[in-house]
Amino acid sequence: PRILILGAPGAGKGTQSKRLCEAYDIEHVTTGDALRANKHMETEYGTPAEYMDAGDLVPDPLVNEIVAAALEEADGFVLDGYPRNESQVEFLADATDLDVVLYLDVSEEELVDRLTGRRVCPECGASYHVEFNPPAEEGVCDECGADLVQRDDDTEETVRDRLETYRENTEDVIEHYRGTDAFVEIDGEQTPDDVWADVKAAVDERA
Ligand code: AP5
Ligand code: ZN
Repeated sequence: PRILILGAPGAGKGTQSKRLCEAYDIEHVTTGDALRANKHMETEYGTPAEYMDAGDLVPDPLVNEIVAAALEEADGFVLDGYPRNESQVEFLADATDLDVVLYLDVSEEELVDRLTGRRVCPECGASYHVEFNPPAEEGVCDECGADLVQRDDDTEETVRDRLETYRENTEDVIEHYRGTDAFVEIDGEQTPDDVWADVKAAVDERA
């Protein structure tokens, strides 16, 4: 299936995308991870880091190029973190059709708690939460044993800026897809397992 997953920063897109990739054997296409892997790359627009650490959007040409290359290689995919504005919506419409558009709805206070408590594994990419999804041993990855870190943009100040950028740019993207046949709104404030049950049912019905 060709799946788009939408939601605010911290809505649980990464968490559910991981499960989708395992269940349907599809590619995780995520602009956030791709940009983090190239954060300090010099481009004609400067480095991605300058935008990301301020909570701003990275310029469209850089992001569109990542998505075009990834979608060309993928048969089925879950696209996560893209599109984030109207111009990216248009670019995506030219690049591929979508079977399912999932929107994870989560309230703003919950988003701040989730992001500031998130810890990630720099080795294998696993994601935890100090309270909602702690590893067996504090600060250590269950899957590979590496020390967990906080993402540079998960500090409270940058989280507020990211949410502001989301409200200004990306809420309209949700409205663009709402009302299309592929669109499904999901209550993202349930436990990860309950969100997953809704996600899986939506995909199985449409793909
Ligand atoms: P990106 O990496 O895409 O970040 P984001 O959209 O802000 O989303 P996150 O990865 O932070 O959140 P998530 O929804 O995946 O949540 P998760 O599952 O981890 O983008 C980063 C930056 O890159 C942007 O700010 C921008 O600068 C740039 N960028 C990226 N794409 C771009 C684009 N298209 N155009 C321009 N710039 C772009 O969950 C969060 C936490 O909650 C975790 O701790 C998790 O354990 C916990 N959790 C998850 N589910 C639940 C649950 N059901 N209950 C309780 N806790 C939960
Ligand atoms: Zn790990």
